[in-house]
Amino acid sequence: MMTAEVGDDVLGDDPTVKELEQYIAELFEREAAVYVPSGTMANQTALKANSRRGWELLCDRECHAVNYEVAGPVVHSGLLINLLTTERGMITADMVRANIRPKNIHCPETRMVTLENTHNRHGGTILPQDEILKVREVCDEFGLIMHLDGARIWNAHVATGLSLVELTRPFDSVSCCLSKGLGAPIGSMVLGSQEFIERCRRERKLFGGGMRQVGIIAAAGLYAVQNNIKRLAEDHANARLLAEGLDAMKTFSVDLNRVETNIVVAHLSIEEPIESVQQKMASVGVWALPFGPTKFRFVMHLDVSRADCEETLERLKTVLS
Ligand SMILES: Cc1ncc(COP(=O)(O)O)c(C=O)c1O
Repeated sequence: MMTAEVGDDVLGDDPTVKELEQYIAELFEREAAVYVPSGTMANQTALKANSRRGWELLCDRECHAVNYEVAGPVVHSGLLINLLTTERGMITADMVRANIRPKNIHCPETRMVTLENTHNRHGGTILPQDEILKVREVCDEFGLIMHLDGARIWNAHVATGLSLVELTRPFDSVSCCLSKGLGAPIGSMVLGSQEFIERCRRERKLFGGGMRQVGIIAAAGLYAVQNNIKRLAEDHANARLLAEGLDAMKTFSVDLNRVETNIVVAHLSIEEPIESVQQKMASVGVWALPFGPTKFRFVMHLDVSRADCEETLERLKTVLS
């Protein structure tokens, strides 16, 4: 970051940002990519650049783009949201087909689907690729656009062995994060066709996301994507270790079948307010995010080692159960 060459990215001449965008576009075999400050801006920029006000968007009830992005699809893009209840985050092809409205002057136009892989609120679950391909077929049949919130697509890639290209090819637009498990302090990308990315650049500017000598942070993103993908396997192993340890405690139960990547969702199995459990955990230096009134989310990343997970379990035993 200290030696990054910088320019003015709003004017399109920051060499480090250009290198990052080109590297990512080639990695995913897409025409173009654009660097944005956050995963939220990546999703919202992509949705806005690819839609018209009043279109209906199909998405999983638990998806990030609706639950944690401050009604962005409605506020920024005027999209009507149809939240579908799914198993492990996957909207199936049958569900898409069943929810496409008839074409007549009374009905909103169902024109977009967004999927999230891996799925955050479902516990880092991986979407089945064969079903994604079936969704693509239905989208082609009815003219729907598919967006992937691939904030953690790297984790799906490492866990399944499927290439980033294969995982993302069915989608018209893709967002992915260089922060989170990959460890850059900031930054996300949107990928797609050249023409779509040009529209995203306008939307990014409209959101106030055009940044100037931003090569400094783009350099961290470039480092993250060039060095930190393979090691995500360690995070997955650490998540399993922590999940099994938590599940063995009286305080928590974990659906081990859902621990597929770097996220562990631990349900409280005792009658105690979550705030009180959280305080006890914090008192021994263990931090996890309440994920509703009776569950916590633990996330593994490159600053959490196997020894840290073992230590976490030891410390939790001193204050819980
Ligand atoms: C699946 C998913 N998409 C998007 C985001 C948004 O990323 P950011 O926090 O960088 O805005 C997150 C953040 O946790 C996420 O989990």
